[in-house]
Amino acid sequence: MPAGSAWCQAALLLLLSCVPLWAAEISCRNEDGETVDWFALYKLPKHAKGQIPMLGLEYLYMDALAPQWQLGKYLINMSQGALGQTLQQLYEAYESKRNTIAYAIYNDEIPESDSKGSKCGHTKGFLLLDKSQGFWVIHSVPLFPPSPEDGYGYPSTGESFGQTAICITFKYDQFTEIDQQMLSYNPGIYSCSIPEIFQADLPNLQKLCAKSRLPLAPLRHLSKLQSARGETFLHFAKSHLFIDDIYVAWMAQELKTDLLAESWQRSGEKLYSNCSLDYHVYNINIIGMPLNSTFHSINDHSKWAVSRKYKDQWTCIGDLNRAAEQAWRSGGFICTQNEQIYKAFRHLIIHYESCTSGHREL
Ligand SMILES: *[C@@H]1O[C@H](CO)[C@@H](O)[C@H](O)[C@H]1NC(C)=O
Ligand SMILES: *[C@@H]1O[C@H](CO)[C@@H](O)[C@H](O)[C@H]1NC(C)=O
Ligand SMILES: *[C@@H]1O[C@H](CO)[C@@H](O)[C@H](O)[C@H]1NC(C)=O
Repeated sequence: MPAGSAWCQAALLLLLSCVPLWAAEISCRNEDGETVDWFALYKLPKHAKGQIPMLGLEYLYMDALAPQWQLGKYLINMSQGALGQTLQQLYEAYESKRNTIAYAIYNDEIPESDSKGSKCGHTKGFLLLDKSQGFWVIHSVPLFPPSPEDGYGYPSTGESFGQTAICITFKYDQFTEIDQQMLSYNPGIYSCSIPEIFQADLPNLQKLCAKSRLPLAPLRHLSKLQSARGETFLHFAKSHLFIDDIYVAWMAQELKTDLLAESWQRSGEKLYSNCSLDYHVYNINIIGMPLNSTFHSINDHSKWAVSRKYKDQWTCIGDLNRAAEQAWRSGGFICTQNEQIYKAFRHLIIHYESCTSGHREL
């Protein structure tokens, strides 16, 4: 039956052309849609001096395949960029409603909602995985990303200030560790699906998603994570009962390194550079981007810290600020000694504040 076999062939072709799409591994994606082990991006604030036209939508981008800052190919509100390409996998999973994929999106400021999740962690991010692997994005943008039914978008409220994001690809087994971190994190999840098959491995995410009662969280928990390509990351998660400045009281002392810290310092009581403990934490106050653009930390909502000394080489990216009232918030940081990530962030620092006040030039 020629007509039938032609139909079969067409169906087979269709099937085959679909297979690579379905079989594609869940992963961080770069700006060409290729899978990458990790990427980091730094959205520039609107108010910066420099040569890039500043819409508040431009960003610097780097990934495991191209580990140096370059100006993003797109604007951050465009779905073709790395964030959009990565989220696209979540949108496809959401639409297909497959019960072999888990996801969660969380933020303390939820899009299209009046409630500020101040009872939840001061945490922002999303993750998507199947039983093979997945990704985790940690970022600083309030009201982002939109709920999956609305597709990709970037809130206009996120334009004025600098913002950071990091995406890491992990094999499945690492998500049981990440699930453990969620217990201290207590993220404000606003869209999620944790199907039955994940219940044993992701009990905390499952409960958070179902809004059911969580077991008692550890005050703080440090997890060692390994990316799909074997890059080591340390993840710091603190609960709201660890009441202290995570930068000074925990990260710097744990990593045994002096840190230069960039965070949002406009809300509440400012914490000054702190040299009280063995390892010190200094506030950055001027950032210099490639392409000669510079800005003051007052215009930056991003949250990151790097070792002061090049030999220590730590970079941490996360979701808590150095501000007195954030001592009571849960949240955390992901840290790495990846040389390229360190250099990229360390070279951005133009001034930081010494402990005796005044500025210190680098
Ligand atoms: C992104 O923002 C620019 C500047 O506001 C605007 O012209 C453009 O239409 C936006 N693109 C999308 C996809 O929203
Ligand atoms: C530095 O931070 C530690 C830990 O939060 C705190 O106990 C100490 O009082 C701070 N020192 C100053 C001078 O603020
Ligand atoms: C940055 O500024 C310096 C000095 O003003 C100039 O020599 C250099 O060409 C500029 N770099 C770029 C990328 O425009």
